[in-house]
Amino acid sequence: MKLTRTADLWWKNAVVYCLDVETFHDSDGDGHGDFRGLTQKIDHLHNLGVTCVWLMPFFPSPDRDDGYDITDFYGVDPRLGTHGDFVEFVRTARDRGIRVIADLVVNHTSDQHPWFQEARSSKDNPRRDWYVWRDQPPPDAEKGVVFPDKEKSLWELDKKTGQYYLHRFYKHQPDLNVANPEVRDEIARVMGFWMELGLSGFRVDAVPFLLEAPVQDLPDPHDYLCDLRAFLSRRNGEGVLLGEVNLPYTDTMKFFGSADGVGDELNMCFDFIGMQQMYLSLARKDASPLTHALKERPLPPRDCHWATFVRNHDELTLDKLTEPERQEVFAAFGPDPDMQLYGRGLRRRLPSMLDGDLRRIKMVYSLLFALPGTPVLFYGEEVGMTEDLSQEGRLAVRTPMWWDAAREQRHDDDSLLSWIKQLIRAYRDCPELAWGTYELIDTPEPAVLAHRCDIDGGTVIAVHNLGDEEAELDLSSVDGELTDVFTEQPVKPKFTLEPYGCRWLRAWAEGVQVSR
Ligand code: NOJ
Repeated sequence: MKLTRTADLWWKNAVVYCLDVETFHDSDGDGHGDFRGLTQKIDHLHNLGVTCVWLMPFFPSPDRDDGYDITDFYGVDPRLGTHGDFVEFVRTARDRGIRVIADLVVNHTSDQHPWFQEARSSKDNPRRDWYVWRDQPPPDAEKGVVFPDKEKSLWELDKKTGQYYLHRFYKHQPDLNVANPEVRDEIARVMGFWMELGLSGFRVDAVPFLLEAPVQDLPDPHDYLCDLRAFLSRRNGEGVLLGEVNLPYTDTMKFFGSADGVGDELNMCFDFIGMQQMYLSLARKDASPLTHALKERPLPPRDCHWATFVRNHDELTLDKLTEPERQEVFAAFGPDPDMQLYGRGLRRRLPSMLDGDLRRIKMVYSLLFALPGTPVLFYGEEVGMTEDLSQEGRLAVRTPMWWDAAREQRHDDDSLLSWIKQLIRAYRDCPELAWGTYELIDTPEPAVLAHRCDIDGGTVIAVHNLGDEEAELDLSSVDGELTDVFTEQPVKPKFTLEPYGCRWLRAWAEGVQVSR
């Protein structure tokens, strides 16, 4: 059992920070960010306590889906820098103990990618089978359109050759055919290339769609994911795959794989369900939707972990809520139709959804770091960035990083930035949270979520008040003296939690020493 807590499982207590090079920091004043700018800002990330940077796509692209439409998987978008700049960044990050992963967007390419240009040139082109073609779209071609504001079907007629190609996303993003062994080899080459240049793994875009393509040709598409993971681990023993899988828990679990209960596919999957239920809880000021989700959430296989998040670069999707639940969250956090997107989500960031209430915002980030799972921050969350609704669609949440706010908040002990730094320090300092087992603690207060994490006899208890009224807590049933993790002051087992309050407490049982 001891071997379950070795340091090479670094992702289990990582702090992941997602950013887009283009909006992070502009080193040469040409109007958009670049790798040199990012490298200049590495100490912001280091001081924050980030241990892993996730880079959104930085590859050459016509930019019709903010870089998720790639024309060269081996290149660096010249606006952002060169391979040299990329390597300097990765090297500088490593010097600060920060690993770097990047988006692996191989469900599709841009329609401008030379592979697709060749493939569409004629039916007998050698690249034809790199994409997915049909003479007629299937009867359910409209089902599952991801961007309903722009697309009506998953299949688009290619006029020249008279066949339809599959595109899960926009029609300018034709799906690659992963049933084709050449495509699978090429994807491995892409991964191998960036790992040679220093990446420690990938955030895998749209995993269920990647595996779904022409399923009839891949009897068990999970074998492919398993192969990818094996390849990654051979090349880099600590390489990680963090997957975008937005499905109900039982379906998502399949993407961890399960060889001997250890997990042999994705190391981490985002917890989309818990995230959505958290917003429902916030809207209702009632912890039970989140508590319920946590009770439902299966334990991942041994070396795997859930990745938890408050916001990401896409709309805040509420697609797994029921229609009335979604309307409740819309009413609370995005009543204006212009704040809503695709009928399922909100193009907003947290601070504006919570009307700038710093107590409440701080409580939500406390939850993020206290609940089990690897926390993933989206750039700007640490300084309370808000959205800009004048930008189109999801770009509202992808505006340039607020460096002025970072400067102002750095020396203010009460700022959000200082709070998030403290949370990260405490999270890294409490091995119970990332490595331990966890249990929900019953409280009579409906607005309070209380849980404990335990490892090697050490215990951390966290209590969060999602409501706007005081709550009475009684932790007398917990063994040992309680101290506040942040102030290190003793705490009585009965106490009042202020509206939107939170506490992390360590229970000191006699004779127990928790190794870090
Ligand atoms: C999921 C990404 O998160 C999103 O931003 C993108 O538009 C689609 N995949 C297509 O790549």
